Amino acid sequence: MFDSENEFDFENRLMTASASPEDSEGGADNENSLRPKAMDDYIGQEKAKENLKVYIEAAKGRGDSLDHVLLYGPPGLGKTTLSGIIANEMGVNMRVTSGPAIEKQGDLAALLTNLNEGDVLFIDEIHRLSRNVEEILYPAMEDFALDIIIGKGPAARSIRIDLPKFTLIGATTRAGQLSTPLRDRFGVMLKLELYTPEELAMIVRRSAGILDMNITEDGSYEIASRSRGTPRIANRLLRRVRDFAQVNGSGKIDSSIANYALGKLEIDELGLDNTDRKMLETIIRFYDGGPVGLETLAATVGEEAVTLEDVYEPYLMQIGFLSRTPRGRVVTRMAYEHLGIPFRAINDKVSGADQTTFNFD
Ligand code: ADE
Repeated sequence: MFDSENEFDFENRLMTASASPEDSEGGADNENSLRPKAMDDYIGQEKAKENLKVYIEAAKGRGDSLDHVLLYGPPGLGKTTLSGIIANEMGVNMRVTSGPAIEKQGDLAALLTNLNEGDVLFIDEIHRLSRNVEEILYPAMEDFALDIIIGKGPAARSIRIDLPKFTLIGATTRAGQLSTPLRDRFGVMLKLELYTPEELAMIVRRSAGILDMNITEDGSYEIASRSRGTPRIANRLLRRVRDFAQVNGSGKIDSSIANYALGKLEIDELGLDNTDRKMLETIIRFYDGGPVGLETLAATVGEEAVTLEDVYEPYLMQIGFLSRTPRGRVVTRMAYEHLGIPFRAINDKVSGADQTTFNFD
């Protein structure tokens, strides 16, 4: 129905929570990196932090490695950052890889055999590991051992190689997609939540300080409240607002230049961009506000169902604009009001020639 590249432009979307090279400002190891290195500098996720501090202190007290940790939640909330902090606080090195990057059993075996005692192996998008590779992980996580088959056919035999005691930190946007045997091998499971505007404003001010920008409290809130609960988006918007402040303003970021810049970027006061608005309008105009099945919606907007589920829906659901029902996605009255479209309750829906009749109550 839509030409996805022109209408939605998902790939170039400013508001996507997927990482882009600029997000790490000069690379993850650069002094200027915005990623906090210590737990005390990490803002928000109080529940996860509180428990983690206990587990870290206890493991260190025993002179032991930390139990395997699964971090799950929407993209852009700081799973990699938190993992780096865990490694730092434990005083060990971290190796970073991702589910799709590990193609063969041998790739994972090479990573595991190169670890030192206590090291952290961080696997992003761990739900995308192939079954084959996953099987190597079970004895590695449980017994710190690698079972390798040598030879083929009747002559094949298995040998066991001992591994150093390491900590696996897995990150995923979808804990439900992990196989049960893998999920069961994580001793610690932490769910990361979308950030509050107050927490995001603190993150924006911290980042502005690191990047040597002048920002007012109001300016930080203006950016924070339009960042969909996601630090990665907040930091990206901060950089774009800085551009407008530099070219169109005095260089200082206050609420007025932030408001102007975000208007130019077509990000509304709730942080919705054209893509969100078009997605909601598609459900309203083509599917009568829903329910519409996820796959059908994905085909209409030209995007993969998993991307809609992981990237777009969490925030739209969090602000009460979209609900998931057994029969499909439904746009709520609040979304209609936000978009300035007269609301019609599902039960009042009529078909055919009467479709222009709206119920305003
Ligand atoms: N930058 C990105 N995420 C952050 C967080 N949670 N705390 C501080 N700075 C951040």
